[in-house]
Amino acid sequence: MNITERRNILITCGPGLKDFLIKEVEDLEYPIVDSHSGGVVTKGSFVDCMQLSMHLRTAYNVLYLMKEFRCGSDTALYKQVNSLAWENIIDSSGYFTVVSQVDTWSIDNSMYPNLKVKDAIVDRIQRKTGSRPDSGSERNKTVVNLFWKNDKAWIYLNMSGLKLSDRNYRKIPHKAPLRESLAAGILLATGYDGSQDLVLPMCGSGTLAIEAAMIAMNKPPALLRSNFGFTHLKCFDESIWKDIRIKAKKQGQMKQLPHSIIATDLDKEAIIAAKQNAKTAGVDHLIQFSVCDFSRTPLPDASSIILMNPEYGLRLGDLDDLELHYKRIGDYLKQKCSGHTGYVFTGNMELAKKIGLKTSQKYPFYNGNIDCRLLKYELYSGTKKS
Ligand SMILES: C[S@@+](CC[C@H](N)C(=O)[O-])C[C@H]1O[C@@H](n2cnc3c(N)ncnc32)[C@H](O)[C@@H]1O
Repeated sequence: MNITERRNILITCGPGLKDFLIKEVEDLEYPIVDSHSGGVVTKGSFVDCMQLSMHLRTAYNVLYLMKEFRCGSDTALYKQVNSLAWENIIDSSGYFTVVSQVDTWSIDNSMYPNLKVKDAIVDRIQRKTGSRPDSGSERNKTVVNLFWKNDKAWIYLNMSGLKLSDRNYRKIPHKAPLRESLAAGILLATGYDGSQDLVLPMCGSGTLAIEAAMIAMNKPPALLRSNFGFTHLKCFDESIWKDIRIKAKKQGQMKQLPHSIIATDLDKEAIIAAKQNAKTAGVDHLIQFSVCDFSRTPLPDASSIILMNPEYGLRLGDLDDLELHYKRIGDYLKQKCSGHTGYVFTGNMELAKKIGLKTSQKYPFYNGNIDCRLLKYELYSGTKKS
């Protein structure tokens, strides 16, 4: 495979993250060819896929287009996939998995196209090399993605393999942690870029604090990862990847930040986990952690972003207690945080009403399949109760 060939690259993301992903892709100076709720299409080479995998904070997967074709039957699917030179891409002693999203009248068993693609690849490699790779459902080696909608199909090589949101720093997840890509998206929605102080009461396992530190330092998010889909491909060039990593490592080497990141939690165990995770991520020296009730979190004098992710009852916490908790959050924002901008990320809008303050903006997100909102509160002195 010619690794310099420019092709369409589909970058997938979680619901609600598309606009932040577009901004990230543009900031990295890649064109936006198309976008939809599940992702963004850009153009670039195999090497660009490596770059994107290293630098994107809000993406799930970077997918390099292999073939796009009309497909009206499983036989056509097999034929088209079998026509690709897989023997130059997947080692005959390697392992791969096929992931598919199928929405076509031609097929009613959604697992069947997976099997067809797998057979087409294995048969091709067997025919050309005399041996065959293994296949299964593990996504930690080569991953091939099929999208089949109506009479059109697309085959992609999945450059990330495992989701890019798995950064590898969260060794201790503690309770109800946010997915890293979602935490990055929430921070980008607040406009956080490191040029202001950030206060994170209820920081839990520290995901928001760690992602914030990485944004503030401009530290590439995938530096801790060594396993990507592309590292398993035959055309993977170790020296190119090494160069990308060396450049990425030089980026974001800050001993201190110009503005503080303050992260607190009532639970001592959460802070132990957060400190350890931050250490693994190499950003523990940039975050001021402490154990306290959120209302006692030290606030900077300068106007800062105060961002809270309280429990919202669907996974943790008792609803009655939480009503009181949300009321206390509202009182705290009103009484102690004037002059700052408050944000609450929650999946329970009934509980959010208990905050009792007027939101100036609501950003839609999903946490897993839970419909969530990031609520923004402008906290002038004398903020009106709603
Ligand atoms: C949903 S979790 C936050 C998860 C976090 N965003 C992460 O990614 O790990 C909510 C956190 O609020 C903390 N918490 C609950 N009540 C608190 C209070 N009164 N003061 C401070 N923290 C509190 C809990 O200990 C828990 O860690």
